[in-house]
Amino acid sequence: MHNITLIPGDGIGPEITDAVVKIIEKAGVEIDWDVQSAGADVADVEGTPLPDRVIQSIKKNKVALKAPVTTPIGKGFRSVNVQLRKALDLYSNLRPCKNLEGIKTRFENVDLVIVRENTEDLYAGIERQIDEDTAESIKIITREASIRICEFAFDYALKNGRKLVTAVSKANICKLTDGLFLRCAKEVAARYPQIEYKEILVDNLCMQLVQNPEKFDVLVLPNLYGDIVSDLAAGLIGGLGVAQGANIGKDYAVFEPVHGSAPDIKGQNKANPTALLLSAIEMLRYIGENEAASNIDSALRTVLSEGKILTPDLGGNASTTDFRDEIIKNIK
Ligand code: NAI
Repeated sequence: MHNITLIPGDGIGPEITDAVVKIIEKAGVEIDWDVQSAGADVADVEGTPLPDRVIQSIKKNKVALKAPVTTPIGKGFRSVNVQLRKALDLYSNLRPCKNLEGIKTRFENVDLVIVRENTEDLYAGIERQIDEDTAESIKIITREASIRICEFAFDYALKNGRKLVTAVSKANICKLTDGLFLRCAKEVAARYPQIEYKEILVDNLCMQLVQNPEKFDVLVLPNLYGDIVSDLAAGLIGGLGVAQGANIGKDYAVFEPVHGSAPDIKGQNKANPTALLLSAIEMLRYIGENEAASNIDSALRTVLSEGKILTPDLGGNASTTDFRDEIIKNIK
């Protein structure tokens, strides 16, 4: 029996969570879910969108599955996601992007893994208004964070049979900050002679990703470039409905889709649970439930490639629950 924290989130969160929990149940994995609410509704009642009980639950269980949580834009509380990553020191954001058969995209051979640094860069949130017409934001890059994210990328490459790690920067302009990141990447690369190492500037990477995405394998990036490039990569494989993610630190791991709470389709039973399901499959592998993970993965792939029961974002007209039931039917 595994003890795992479950954050159903808000918006479409509870609908896709319900689908994923039922699919995992059918695959026979025994999980005692510790359900923890977080987000705007919780803030109204408990005074904070991320009560300490949520953090304590993840600290106890070490692993969490998290659906999206709404963050108000330009006002109100800080993103629950950013707070969680900070509180648990989840320093790596892992976003595998691979084509799924049955989902039409411009490219057929995308198989990328984005490793994004999750704790510093412009996300340190050190900003100030100098005068009415001038504001500044400080970009922090440290040796410690750069080394550990590059080690994570190379370790991941090694464990997962990957051949190439490319470090991404804008070191021609940000000579000190991105220059430091690159020096650290090079230093770590020297310790992994089995893995090929390359460097690329982020603007050139974006151009090449939309022309020849198959040229890339594992990408390691500072926080902001990682954020932007991982959405670009999600677009290459069919959009947010199928883009999985995980935030992993030394002690804890939180698995969550790339997409947000999609308030425009909330409560309509038409959200696509695939991205959360793929994140959950990665979570099952992380806790050693490899057989169940492969079982669910192949059921999902069967349903997608048959193309008969698909949610509207994938061009179908099935509901979330129909899609869920079709996957459940295909689990061996
Ligand atoms: P969003 O990802 O929620 O939605 C963008 C578009 O994609 C919408 O049209 C939505 O309907 C569609 N979409 C997203 N996920 C889908 C799915 N599973 N199935 C079908 N369609 C899907 O991005 P948006 O609108 O910018 O953000 C909404 C809220 O989510 C904001 O408050 C934002 O802060 C929050 N958010 C939370 C995240 C998290 O909890 N990790 C990540 C990103 C955003």
